Amino acid sequence: MGIRSDLRTIRHMAFPRLTGATPFERMESYYRSTAGDYDAFRERLLHGRRDLMGLLPAAPGGHLVEMGAGTGSNIAHLDERRRKEFGTITLVDVSTSMLEVARRRVERSGWDNVETVLASATDYRPRDGLADVVVFSYALTMIPDWFAAVDHARSVLRPGGTIAVCDFYVARKHPAGGARHAAWRRHLWPAWFSHNDVFLSPDHLPYLRTRFTAVHVRESLSAVPYLPARVPYYLFIGTRD
Ligand SMILES: C[S@@+](CC[C@H](N)C(=O)[O-])C[C@H]1O[C@@H](n2cnc3c(N)ncnc32)[C@H](O)[C@@H]1O
Repeated sequence: MGIRSDLRTIRHMAFPRLTGATPFERMESYYRSTAGDYDAFRERLLHGRRDLMGLLPAAPGGHLVEMGAGTGSNIAHLDERRRKEFGTITLVDVSTSMLEVARRRVERSGWDNVETVLASATDYRPRDGLADVVVFSYALTMIPDWFAAVDHARSVLRPGGTIAVCDFYVARKHPAGGARHAAWRRHLWPAWFSHNDVFLSPDHLPYLRTRFTAVHVRESLSAVPYLPARVPYYLFIGTRD
């Protein structure tokens, strides 16, 4: 917490360590030294997560899967009553360091229906049946095969199940509807974030709309700590036919 933690995070973002041949190795190399600082800085960078969790449908006894769950902080954003309603909540991630923070949070909080699983969002499958809700919170931009992750999420969701996504993005130059972004935004932010292997795409929202029935879509701009510019992000809630 505090300025030292911020300085460590900013130094790490300026000179990121990203090595390895697989997503497991690359993400672990990125987060190994900073997983403990993650929550304090991302609380001010990754907007919309609390709203996203508040918009999840009730699924008493159901299975919620968060893909790329990181430190598990989104579960803390879930209302306690809603959290208890789910039969199982599975936090999936490829980084052992991030999952270790999540595991300690689960243990400390006494969340007895929450488990952590080391696996990729492109191939994790629930042991018993299909999921009721799949969440991606600032994870799709870090998954190179994000379209495969979206397709895979569809395949693990029961018919009528819900996908909930929030992430950074940029609009297409000629969007069919929704927000328009100035050229500097469409060029600056993808270049800026790609330095940390975060790939903002104009295609997330259009692709999600083709794969799911949109229930709630919000496009907005969020503040970036220590910078005078705002970055676009979206919330998408959709259901599987
Ligand atoms: C920016 S963090 C978001 C964490 C959390 N969802 C949140 O909202 O704070 C992105 C997470 O996605 C994970 N990740 C990246 N590629 C992944 C993949 N292929 N499968 C599962 N998790 C992945 C990273 O390890 C990291 O924990």
